[in-house]
Amino acid sequence: MRLRSIVNLQKRWLTLILVCLPFAACLHASFGQERKIDSMFLELDKKYRMPEQWSALPFELEDPYKRVKNGPPLVNVIYKANVEWLSRWIANPKTVVQNAKMPNLGLDFDEIKAVIVFLGSIAEKDVPQVAWDEFLLKKEDALSEDEYDKMEKVFNAGKGVWGRARCTICHPIKGVGGNVGVGPDLGEITTKINRNWLHAWLGNTKSHFPDTMMAQYRFTDQDVRWLVEFIMRDTQFIPEEKDEEEGTAQPKVETPVLTEKEFSGLRNDAALIEKGRSVVEKARCFVCHDIKGISELMPVIERKREGLSGFEKLLYEIRCLACHRIQEKGGTYAPNLTFAGSKIKMNWEGEFLQAPDIIRPLSQQMPKFNLTEDEAKAATEYIEKSLLTKEPLPDPFKDGPPTAEIIAAGEKLFYEKGCNTCHAENITKGGGVVGPNLATVGDRLQPAYILHHLKNPQQVNPQGVEPNFGLSDEELKQLVGFLVDHVKKKEGT
Ligand code: HEC
Ligand code: HEC
Ligand code: HEC
Ligand code: HEC
Repeated sequence: MRLRSIVNLQKRWLTLILVCLPFAACLHASFGQERKIDSMFLELDKKYRMPEQWSALPFELEDPYKRVKNGPPLVNVIYKANVEWLSRWIANPKTVVQNAKMPNLGLDFDEIKAVIVFLGSIAEKDVPQVAWDEFLLKKEDALSEDEYDKMEKVFNAGKGVWGRARCTICHPIKGVGGNVGVGPDLGEITTKINRNWLHAWLGNTKSHFPDTMMAQYRFTDQDVRWLVEFIMRDTQFIPEEKDEEEGTAQPKVETPVLTEKEFSGLRNDAALIEKGRSVVEKARCFVCHDIKGISELMPVIERKREGLSGFEKLLYEIRCLACHRIQEKGGTYAPNLTFAGSKIKMNWEGEFLQAPDIIRPLSQQMPKFNLTEDEAKAATEYIEKSLLTKEPLPDPFKDGPPTAEIIAAGEKLFYEKGCNTCHAENITKGGGVVGPNLATVGDRLQPAYILHHLKNPQQVNPQGVEPNFGLSDEELKQLVGFLVDHVKKKEGT
């Protein structure tokens, strides 16, 4: 929603917001699952996943959570963040970005000025200047009707890319979202970066920050341009206007801010650059940042990544382990993939990786990275070969598909045990949405895995809410038979 429409709709929105807010807040509280890991679960996790159960992997996995420097490299930050933003940031990060991790280092304005001038002196290369359509560089109220319509098309296309990419599972916006727990809040990002930088970042994150945890989407240049337009114009990325009347009780303390104009006057001041360098050394910025000319004090051993190929390259570029866990590495937001090769059917998985479906509707969703067919193939081949349980899981139907009697008995059990309070298995009958929809679970999961899961759901996911029903062998076979029969019906049947 942009400025022009806001003026028209403001009143109507206000009523809508007042009516919906309590409801939305309540929804958020119940569905916006926080994924903090309880230490008890980690203990359980260890107990259930003894290393001896794991298969050996063909290469050492890189854990994106264990990078040497927590902060981004500062070499070209002067071309990324504008000077005013930088001076507010260094003065007190938390007042600039809600979920900032960088501490307030207590520098005064003269020190901050010197640090910024120093950061300017170490810059190597600006990002490439993109040839934007002239009208896209205009402010909204300077656009003609015709230009506005054209811009709006681009904007709406960008909104679509944004939605499919599910950027908000990593990035909160003004405090909402970001369940993975790794991205900065983007609620005021337009006060920091410019469209050329954003274009370069979305096109190739790793060339700016080799250790970044952000996924490298397979966007086309067109996708990136659309997305840039959306981010640079949508009000969710612009600070909310402060209500003047509200703030009258407390007189605002103005923190001094370095302007672009002042900065260009100071940029080549050698004494100030030296001062900045010594502030950076004293403030120990290098503990968290790779800073050219300073990092020798705490050298970073760069990972060699040039020769990466196949699944190893994909893991690095997409950062699958920012969300998933394999053996002891990675995050806990998304399903653990350690045994994915013993769990998932590979035909389904290849399709899913290229165009993810929603399996778990409420809590977790996998973004659309636009993987190519070859990339999806590299992933499924690796998973099929390497992410296995040490001993193959027993398949109750290895000698033939379940009989009609078994399926019918399984169906009865499914409803008797109340599986439908959490799962839907049939569109017309409906069912719960706490657990994954099981309507086509036979296409997705291997029969042996379904059995393994039902024997003890906590063994598979110690944090899972599915109860252990203590099912007998016969009941297990019936339920598995019922579920493996849930496949997409072929045309004409
Ligand atoms: C304890 C670790 C730590 C220290 C010390 C630290 N930073 Fe940071 N810094 C971070 C982290 C982490 C970020 C990434 C943003 C965030 O989540 O806070 C960051 C972000 C930044 C950014 C924005 C970079 C970008 O690409 O957006 C700048 C500029 C910066 N720091 C400058 C400094 C300077 C200058 C110092 C020393 C005066 C310093 N930092 C000291 C952790 C640190
Ligand atoms: C896997 C989690 C993840 C996803 C998904 C993700 N990001 Fe990020 N993004 C990050 C992290 C983490 C950073 C900060 C760099 C770092 O610490 O590695 C970042 C940085 C950024 C920045 C720079 C912000 C700053 O202040 O420096 C922008 C802009 C951005 N992401 C936009 C997007 C957009 C747009 C999408 C969706 C197309 C997206 N991100 C998807 C994790 C993610
Ligand atoms: C930004 C977080 C994120 C990243 C990065 C990510 N995924 Fe996912 N992935 C998810 C979520 C969330 C789900 C669960 C989707 C659902 O249930 O609807 C999922 C589901 C899956 C599944 C199905 C697992 C199951 O047990 O049902 C596979 C396989 C998978 N992802 C593989 C990958 C691979 C391979 C990569 C890297 C190329 C990757 N993912 C990157 C979040 C992510
Ligand atoms: C209290 C809610 C609840 C009940 C009752 C429940 N489940 Fe689940 N079930 C879940 C959740 C949540 C998951 C997802 C676990 C995860 O994400 O790892 C799940 C996962 C599954 C899966 C594996 C799906 C996957 O992709 O990992 C199957 C199969 C399954 N349930 C079958 C059943 C059957 C059969 C019953 C009845 C005997 C049942 N469930 C009862 C909540 C429930």
